[in-house]
Amino acid sequence: MSDKHDWSNDEKFFARSWTHIFYFWKLRQVMLANTVKTLLKKRRGDNLVRVVDLGCGPGTNVFDVYDVCADFKHVQWFGLDLNQREAAMGAARSRYRSEQRGMQGIHFMSGDIFKLPFADNSIDILISSEVVEHLPDPLPALQEMQRVLKPSGYAMVTTPNPRNLPEMVGYALDKITFGGFKKFYWKGQDEVSAPPLSAEVGFGHVSVHAFPVWRDWFATIDMPVVKKIRGPMLFGSPFFDRHRFLIGLLVMLDPILDRLPFRFLTTTNLGMLCQKK
Ligand SMILES: C[S@@+](CC[C@H](N)C(=O)[O-])C[C@H]1O[C@@H](n2cnc3c(N)ncnc32)[C@H](O)[C@@H]1O
Repeated sequence: MSDKHDWSNDEKFFARSWTHIFYFWKLRQVMLANTVKTLLKKRRGDNLVRVVDLGCGPGTNVFDVYDVCADFKHVQWFGLDLNQREAAMGAARSRYRSEQRGMQGIHFMSGDIFKLPFADNSIDILISSEVVEHLPDPLPALQEMQRVLKPSGYAMVTTPNPRNLPEMVGYALDKITFGGFKKFYWKGQDEVSAPPLSAEVGFGHVSVHAFPVWRDWFATIDMPVVKKIRGPMLFGSPFFDRHRFLIGLLVMLDPILDRLPFRFLTTTNLGMLCQKK
């Protein structure tokens, strides 16, 4: 790595937090990769399957999903993002993997989720993780997903869950203690708990909705949610990171929580698997 590498990012809380690592493991390996793997297993015959990651950033998710599904043949992989620089980073990593490790290439492109560069009924599986909450008016983007999906094709969408009990309790405690709870919880990590720059420039979470809102939108465009998938419980927690036995407890408790009736009250993220009619 060159001397010009900006190490400040690597030194931030999220790069070193075990709970944050657990968050991404659950999101990428369990919610996205396992779901796509299950869908690919259901495929009949040797027909070509197209998988596209919408709002892929530098492709972190689609590379992880590919790695879990690498044994499936006749699959074409794509990543699309509005941000050209991010898509170019994905393309560079894909080139590296192909040239150095002989892996199948992933096609990265810059494009807008509201105007997808794919023909009607041409895609088998879409994934879109932590993107729709950034769109002021998400419905036309969902309609665009529906347009490009083949009949019976799937879209796996993840987004923040506002009905998250631990978070709601945290906010309430913070109010009661006049900001004391947040200071205690984020001790020494105040800069991460401040609103990120993306929010300051108007690119924050502008469309965070409870599950029934998404469910109704997907139903109106004939792409109903056929499976709701629970995500991780915490999006990085300095408090848990300071008390490591709690992380162990969380890791053991999480698969149990996944099975409980109130499981969706204990997740930061909702996974919605939708199928086009
Ligand atoms: C929070 S990031 C999520 C990135 C990636 N999916 C992940 O989970 O790591 C949101 C991404 O959505 C992309 N995005 C936002 N609006 C978009 C649009 N209209 N079309 C395509 N991508 C968009 C952003 O450029 C950004 O990379």
